[in-house]
Parts: sequence; C-alpha cells; structure tokens
Amino acid sequence: MSKIPNHIAIIMDGNGRWAQSKKLSRHSGHKAGVEAVRKVIEACAKRKVKNLTLFAFSSENWKRPKAEVNLLMELFLVSLRRELNKLHENNILIRFIGDRTAFAGSLLKQIIKAEELTKKNTGLVLAIAVNYGGRWDIAQATKKVVAGVLAGEYSQEEINPELISKYVCLAEFPEPDLFIRTSGEQRISNYLLWQLAYTELYFTDKHWPDYDEILLDEAIEEFNCRQRRFGKTQEQLNKPIENSLPDNVKGTSKN
Ligand code: FPP
Repeated sequence: MSKIPNHIAIIMDGNGRWAQSKKLSRHSGHKAGVEAVRKVIEACAKRKVKNLTLFAFSSENWKRPKAEVNLLMELFLVSLRRELNKLHENNILIRFIGDRTAFAGSLLKQIIKAEELTKKNTGLVLAIAVNYGGRWDIAQATKKVVAGVLAGEYSQEEINPELISKYVCLAEFPEPDLFIRTSGEQRISNYLLWQLAYTELYFTDKHWPDYDEILLDEAIEEFNCRQRRFGKTQEQLNKPIENSLPDNVKGTSKN
C-alpha cells in the first residue's frame, strides 16, 4: 500500500501552453486550471493528504501583462466565492499565504471570509499562495525574529533555524513531503524556499489543466520509491544508531 505524503506542495504551471496547444486564449487556460485545482483538492481529500499548498500567483507574476493579472485576480475572487461553501462542507481549512498588502479590497475581504469560515475545520488544510515569494517569506520571518530580539524575548545568540522556522508561513504545519511542478520546468521559482529543504521534488511534462487524480497517484507512487535520509546514511536508516553530533548541536538541525 502506498504511503500518502502528509503535505503536498504544487507549482501549477502550463495553463498558457495548454491553451496555446489548443489554439485557445490564455484566459481559457487559466479557467481550465481552476477545474484541475478542483480535481486535485478532491483527490487529496479522498487520499487523506493532510496539507495541500498551491502556488496560484507569485510575487513575480505582477510583471505579466496588466490584463492577465486582472483576469487572474478576478478568477481567484470568483472561484473563491463560488467554491467556498462546498469547501467548508467538506471540512477543508483554507489558508492564504503571501503578501496581502497589494490585493484589492474585494479579494482581501473574500480571503478573510474564507479563512474565518473554515478556521475550525479539521480536514485537508488547503493553503493557497498568492503574491507569495520564498524570499519575501524569509524576510518577513526575519523581521519577526528581530522584533523578538528587540523586545528581549530571546537573545541574538539564540537565533537558529528552529527559531526562524517558527515565523515562516505554514510554521504550524508539517513541511512539504512532496513537491510537484507541472509543464516541464525543473525549477523551484521562489516557492517555499525555507520549507522545501528536505522535500522530494517531482516534475512532470503534463500541463496543469490536464492534471488529475491519476497523475497525482503517479507522483505519490514515485514518492514511495524515494528514500528520505535527512542527512543520515542508509545503514542508519535500516538500523538506527546514536549520532555523533556534539551535545550543543544535537537536535538543532536535520542536516
Ligand atoms: C501557470 O500557468 C499558472 C498561473 C500563473 C496561475 C495559476 C492559477 C490557476 C491554476 C487558476 C486559479 C487558481 C486557484 C487557486 C483558484 P502559466 O500561465 O504560467 O502557463 P505558461 O507557463 O504555459 O504560460
């Protein structure tokens, strides 16, 4: 039986190329992308994946033509309005990660409404990254760490990866086990840079609008063939032995 990853993080790429291959507008590609989002959420909930994080709009996507940016924002708003009750009925907890300061009031209101309505749900945690960048995330965490030092909550010497991990987005959830990027590109593109440190990376040539539960199962199957060593040797994984870290660094890093 397959081991189901606790947390799957996806870069949904290729809406434009999918549309182009069918001689459709980029708009149609993004709309078809929303349908794939629906299928993948359902498939993850069915397989009891605990966390699904989707990269919907990066901090760099503002560089796209204005009409496409407006269209994407409108699509987020409309999709969220249309799907919110169904997601709530399915016990899905919705979270948005990213810099919210640039959003229009209507989208921001809908984001807050979705998070409020679903905050006590206990099923799949669906995190949607909008205006998100991994470097922005590390910078915003750093600001909070510095604020803690200035407030005297801890000293500069106490800053370590575990402390920073408490302030990056999704800190309260397990780090992604499986990262999936569609449409052939093999890059992280400023996604969850901190959180992906030990994640298994999986790339597929399929465009996002073609993504479905069969392709998700293929990724999960491949994930099951990977050996995650977290810095240990294969022998240690087979037969755990005491590690040789000095006492003062034990438990501070996975390596
Ligand atoms: C990448 O395709 C896709 C995006 C930048 C937007 C992702 C948005 C959706 C899938 C739709 C809405 C999502 C939610 C959560 C409601 P691309 O335009 O970069 O494709 P290309 O690289 O082929 O041009």
